[in-house]
Amino acid sequence: MVRFENVSVSIGNKPILKNISFALQQGQKVALMGRSGSGKSTLLRSIAGFVAPSQGAIFINGRKVSEAGTILLPPHKRGVGMIFQDLALWPHMSVTQNVEFGLKIKGVPSYKRKEMVERFLDMVGLQGYGSRAIHQLSGGERQRVALARALVLEPPLLLMDEPLSSLDEELKEELLETILTLQRQLGFTLLFVTHSSEEAKKIGMVWRLEGGELIAKD
Ligand SMILES: Nc1ncnc2c1ncn2[C@@H]1O[C@H](COP(=O)(O)OP(=O)(O)OP(=O)(O)O)[C@@H](O)[C@H]1O
Ligand SMILES: [Mg+2]
Repeated sequence: MVRFENVSVSIGNKPILKNISFALQQGQKVALMGRSGSGKSTLLRSIAGFVAPSQGAIFINGRKVSEAGTILLPPHKRGVGMIFQDLALWPHMSVTQNVEFGLKIKGVPSYKRKEMVERFLDMVGLQGYGSRAIHQLSGGERQRVALARALVLEPPLLLMDEPLSSLDEELKEELLETILTLQRQLGFTLLFVTHSSEEAKKIGMVWRLEGGELIAKD
């Protein structure tokens, strides 16, 4: 469902991703690893449509969405959910407003939004947290809000950039199980950035970025 054809990405004059080609199939789960600064977030941002390649082309469901120097399809039209490394929650909005926002934009009616927000807050273990402000939440609770906000749109592809990084070991395990259970139930394709080989093993296939090149490992 995502295909890279000889994609290179430079930021400024610095080459970050070099001639990368891959195909990610519907329902596939991949852990993306690599040293800090190796370009993992840049790869995710290219798929989501926030970064244009300097060479090559990116396809989603057979449609060309980016080519050298050009974003052909903007992020909100790609059907791609992304959980950013810094979460990027809206601090002035409540938990419910954060999770509901994308549904509003999509024009989902209010009674339906309410039901969906409740269902997804339940799923991530945040029932009853809807009216809280973001600054009243712990780091782990914030990560759950980011997860619910991405999942409620039921994207066919979910990109997660180190979504468990600020959690304690127990919560990491618990939340990874939740994510994998939801993946089985909802069937989305998952690309999950992590520095933990233990997490990577649980996810399945491991891809590694080294020197700007992508190396696939089982
Ligand atoms: N907006 C930017 N301007 C300049 N350089 C950037 C920008 N974004 C990323 N870079 C550089 O691109 C390289 C890859 O960054 P990226 O964030 O993709 O790495 P990463 O693999 O996600 O690292 P980490 O594991 O630390 O999150 C780094 O050298 C970084 O400094
Ligand atoms: Mg990163």
